[in-house]
Amino acid sequence: MTLPADDLISQAKELFAQAADPAALENAKARFLGKQGALTALLKGLAQLDPEQKREQGGRINQVKQQIEGLLNQRRAELVQAELDKRLAAETIDVTLPGRGRGAGGIHPVIQTWQRVQAIFASIGFDSVEGPEIENDWTNFTALNNPENHPARSMQDTFYVDMKDESGLPLLLRTHTSPMQVRYARMNKPPIKVIAPGRTYRVDSDATHSPMFHQVEGLWIAEDISFADLKGVYTDFLRAFFETDELSVRFRPSFFPFTEPSAEIDMMFSSGPNQGRWLEISGSGQVHPQVVRNFGLDPERYIGFAFGSGLERLTMLRHGVNDLRQFFEGDLRFLRQFNR
Ligand code: DAH
Repeated sequence: MTLPADDLISQAKELFAQAADPAALENAKARFLGKQGALTALLKGLAQLDPEQKREQGGRINQVKQQIEGLLNQRRAELVQAELDKRLAAETIDVTLPGRGRGAGGIHPVIQTWQRVQAIFASIGFDSVEGPEIENDWTNFTALNNPENHPARSMQDTFYVDMKDESGLPLLLRTHTSPMQVRYARMNKPPIKVIAPGRTYRVDSDATHSPMFHQVEGLWIAEDISFADLKGVYTDFLRAFFETDELSVRFRPSFFPFTEPSAEIDMMFSSGPNQGRWLEISGSGQVHPQVVRNFGLDPERYIGFAFGSGLERLTMLRHGVNDLRQFFEGDLRFLRQFNR
């Protein structure tokens, strides 16, 4: 005898298969197993049967119920799997693609020069310090014997900051590293032997000038430091920096308000691409007595020299770079060449 229960299995199979998502499946389930479901109705109908039939049919209905539950669970699992497959397909990651990496980074060529200069001067006993890029005009100009309204100030046209410092002094972006001579000398006792590399600013922009550039200041003050020491120290520095003894150095008379006498240092390679040409490399001089006084020292007792060199210039000569602007354009094809 075929019970209506047997048909229910194939009906359930069909309806469950048609359910395309979990909600539809739960609706389909209700038609068989729910309170109003077909199986529930069959079970209720057992009440009218005699005990013999009741046992037989009851058992059969229970089997069908179990099978339908089995079908239901199977379809549930299928739908979960289908949902997962859909998500995986949408979110595919090709794990075989090579990673993007993080690039190792490198030290900017001008900063390499900065560090190189520090190392060379450290080897001959020079301290290295850094000072503020926003400077007051007394330290940047006046203390360096560059009095207010003196025309030499306009040689170093700069950016003024619309603020004054605690003592009411106008502030500006320092035009050179020379103010660090003053700051350092006023805070340290002689003998003073220091370099001060750093960023400097001027209203200037072309192939050999940038509004922001780097200098390194040098200062040696003691009781018996002469121009001869300057020549010796600076020549040794250049030979170490360019890794060659095949270069000559000359001191050409010049003017700076903070030195007397003042000299422009020129150098000439006796080999290589720049061979035979005098190249201007640094300002220098014997520190002016008035500046020594502004250091808070007695110029009758203390004497010495100072120099200020451009770090871009040193970098350009060392590597044969001809346009200074390349240092600040951030083009990795250019910069990578210095980090191999
Ligand atoms: N400060 C000068 C400039 O930027 C360079 C300079 C010249 C520095 C002579 C010195 C020096 O210390 O003695 O043009």
